[in-house]
Amino acid sequence: MTAIAVLTSGGDAPGMNAAIRAVTKVAASHGIPTWGVERGFDGLIDGEFRPLTRRSKSGAPAPLHEIEIQGGEGGTMLGSSRCPRFFERESRAMAVEQLEEYSITGVVVIGGNGSMAGIHAFAGETDIPIVGIPASIDNDIGLTREALGVDSALNTIVKACDNISDTARSHHRAFIVEVMGRRSGYLAMAAAVATAADAVLMPEVPHTRDDVIDSVVNCIESSFDEGRDKTRVLIIKAEGIDVPTHEIVEEATRKMEAHGKDYELRGAVLGHVVRGGDASYRDRFLAGRFGRVAVEGLLAGTTDVMAGWNIGVDIGITTTDDWIRLFDIGDVLVETEALLDGTSPVSIDRVARMEAIQGVLAL
Ligand code: F6P
Repeated sequence: MTAIAVLTSGGDAPGMNAAIRAVTKVAASHGIPTWGVERGFDGLIDGEFRPLTRRSKSGAPAPLHEIEIQGGEGGTMLGSSRCPRFFERESRAMAVEQLEEYSITGVVVIGGNGSMAGIHAFAGETDIPIVGIPASIDNDIGLTREALGVDSALNTIVKACDNISDTARSHHRAFIVEVMGRRSGYLAMAAAVATAADAVLMPEVPHTRDDVIDSVVNCIESSFDEGRDKTRVLIIKAEGIDVPTHEIVEEATRKMEAHGKDYELRGAVLGHVVRGGDASYRDRFLAGRFGRVAVEGLLAGTTDVMAGWNIGVDIGITTTDDWIRLFDIGDVLVETEALLDGTSPVSIDRVARMEAIQGVLAL
């Protein structure tokens, strides 16, 4: 292998920089220089490459200082993009030409499910091996227990909910806190457990608009009813619930007024705050492990695979890391769709667990 390229694609996620660092250092340890591709697949098509390694005194590649210092920071030092162009065959052919021009013989893509679909399309058209590292705060990528960014995002959500709970308790208020996640309710579900929220609204549970409003009203009224000394109600809502938070607040407040209750309900949409910030210990640790396995996969000539944290399965290629296997991206994409449409055993289990603890949350 003469040189590898690494790029970050789709929504940024904490841990992407740590993965770039790991890939660069592991490649250097094998004597291979690394090129960083700017702006994701767009930079691959347009040839926006910059070195991430220099020549050390001995002539061997050594990581640049920048890689060392930015490894724990959020965002991505290479920049990212969502790149519809990459789904056109001509653009992918331009990307192959750019890689050949730079004598690059292996590619690592760090990104979410759209990026994995991009790898899958690309791998069928070139002999240059390409391996994916899952990174998305949404945790909506199949065959990996967690993607990079999920743990950091959850830490940010938990902190924000703790802060909101301080003010809620001080004013005897109810809050709906909306968290990102696109079509996945994972962040909402995990955060609800960690913050001892009173209820969670997630898209995997079938619902109508009325169901959403009624469950908010029921949760608040039963929590604040006389005889209970609750001073805070916290409801976590996933972005994928298709009723805007401010509309839930308005309609639920009207309904409670009609019931003769003047409980105060506020909404807070955390939005992109959750996607930024330094990577947690676990995201850095996972990034290091994914990075190592990805480079070793390229060295073995493996292509069209994604490194996934998945223990106890009998599919995928075992690696030097007990936690991590390389999964065929075709399988990853099938499982991703099943996760999102609720038919995957993983989503069925998540919903069942949430239903089982709803009663506990409401206490
Ligand atoms: O996929 C990550 C994510 O933050 C989703 O949770 C959210 O729906 C989406 O990206 C927002 O994308 P953008 O930053 O392009 O608006």
